[in-house]
Amino acid sequence: MFPWGAKPPEQRAAWQRLGLLARDAGHSRGANGAQALSQRLGPLFVDYSKERVDSPVRRALADLANESGLPEAVAALFAGERVNETEGRAALHTELRKPAAQARPEVRQERERFLRFAEDVRGGRCRGATGRPIRAIVHVGIGGSHLGPQLALEALRAADDGPQVRFLANIDGAAVERTLAGLDPATTLAIVASKSFETLETRINAQTLRRWFSPVAADAAVARCHFAAVTGNADAARDFGVADERRFSLWDWVGGRFSLWSAVGLPVAIGLGREAFEELLAGAYLVDTHFAGAAAHENLPALLALLQIWNTNFLGATSHAVLPYDHRLRLLPAYLQQLEMESNGKSTRLDGEPTGTHTAPVVWGGEETGGQHAFHQLLHQGTRTFSADFIACVRPGHNLPAHHDWLLANCLAQSKALADGCPSECGHQRLRGGHPSTTILLDALDPKSLGALIALYEHKVFSAGVIWGINSFDQWGVRLGKALAEDIHEQLRGADAPRQDPSTRALLREIRRLR
Ligand code: F6P
Repeated sequence: MFPWGAKPPEQRAAWQRLGLLARDAGHSRGANGAQALSQRLGPLFVDYSKERVDSPVRRALADLANESGLPEAVAALFAGERVNETEGRAALHTELRKPAAQARPEVRQERERFLRFAEDVRGGRCRGATGRPIRAIVHVGIGGSHLGPQLALEALRAADDGPQVRFLANIDGAAVERTLAGLDPATTLAIVASKSFETLETRINAQTLRRWFSPVAADAAVARCHFAAVTGNADAARDFGVADERRFSLWDWVGGRFSLWSAVGLPVAIGLGREAFEELLAGAYLVDTHFAGAAAHENLPALLALLQIWNTNFLGATSHAVLPYDHRLRLLPAYLQQLEMESNGKSTRLDGEPTGTHTAPVVWGGEETGGQHAFHQLLHQGTRTFSADFIACVRPGHNLPAHHDWLLANCLAQSKALADGCPSECGHQRLRGGHPSTTILLDALDPKSLGALIALYEHKVFSAGVIWGINSFDQWGVRLGKALAEDIHEQLRGADAPRQDPSTRALLREIRRLR
């Protein structure tokens, strides 16, 4: 076992020191009230002055990182050691964003293949079974095979200068119908992205698409000419009938939620072009280099992880709000929900023992400034303890500077109001303040800054997992529900359900009665 999982975090000296410091932390912003705490990393500027950390707390947090073996863990991650211990695998998503000269040959070759394919599709050189050029993409995938590409494309695609790209994740028939509405099967290509090629939603949606394509050509030609696949299960994709030149690999050392940088990013490359995709990788690589080399006290992903631990384990935050002040980043909360909660929503340590501390908070959020007129009331005057990330872009991606000034003013105003509160004789008007937040400014939203932002969060999540002593790369918790759905699906369709619990039985009876 790796040394960072060998000891419960609460037994570390720095953890115990932090416990004592938390008692004195009070509700104020902390001793840093007069001092700006910020750090630049490439196109990102991270300000954590509104976190409740003073110098002793920051020192103890850095000590915690070192005592927890974070530097050794980072080295092991980049060296390709099997840091995903419970599945016996490495987690080498960082290999995927290395510049060509440094990348492993298989990564370089596969990247070249899928980028060339993307350019062919963009350039109208990819044709369907009838010989007409492909004009629309339906990306079929869910979770890590969906959230990253959709986030990146929604964030970065301004002009529709290539095929239109739609995403189909949900098994809900309404999602299928809406996704396909108005598309011509003869000029549509489905990309099935699934590391396992077994995920229920993706399997069923791919089969439905196959039938939707059927007026265009015979079944084998449909599979060959209207499907591409990105998967770690090459045999299954071949059995489906996907042509060799349209099958792209995912290695077992790429976790689903860390896979945007692989051929899972194909719709991004199709939508934005090769150059933009390479810039996305370059932004992530910049953060990788920093993460691999910077000492704990100036390592930005580690710092964000330590702030999360301070807020969660010492100040009592139970949730973390992700608040993008940018319409283009409106999918960021959903993306980070998977990244943070699927990675670190764990209660068993690497040594198999139950965690003695809380792990990931509930991550949620939404596009701003809409949230200010919805849930911010609770943030300002509710009873819950939480932390927040404010994310904004200094330069806008539009020609309405007055709008951008108001957007930024609101962003800064909200974090200030949360930190400082407002004293009042009247309880109804009092805002207690003291709510910790970090603000991340992107110079502008472009492929490089988005790549850097996502990698920053990826490494934050890994760092927090190391300090909590858990494995951030597995997701055993999602299995049970999937297995139960198989039986219930049969029972919905009429099979006996003698061993079902009374609640599920009653629900099944009611559904069957009404149908
Ligand atoms: O059910 C969870 C999960 O395994 C995620 O971790 C993953 O991103 C998603 O399902 C999709 O998996 P796949 O890429 O194998 O279809």
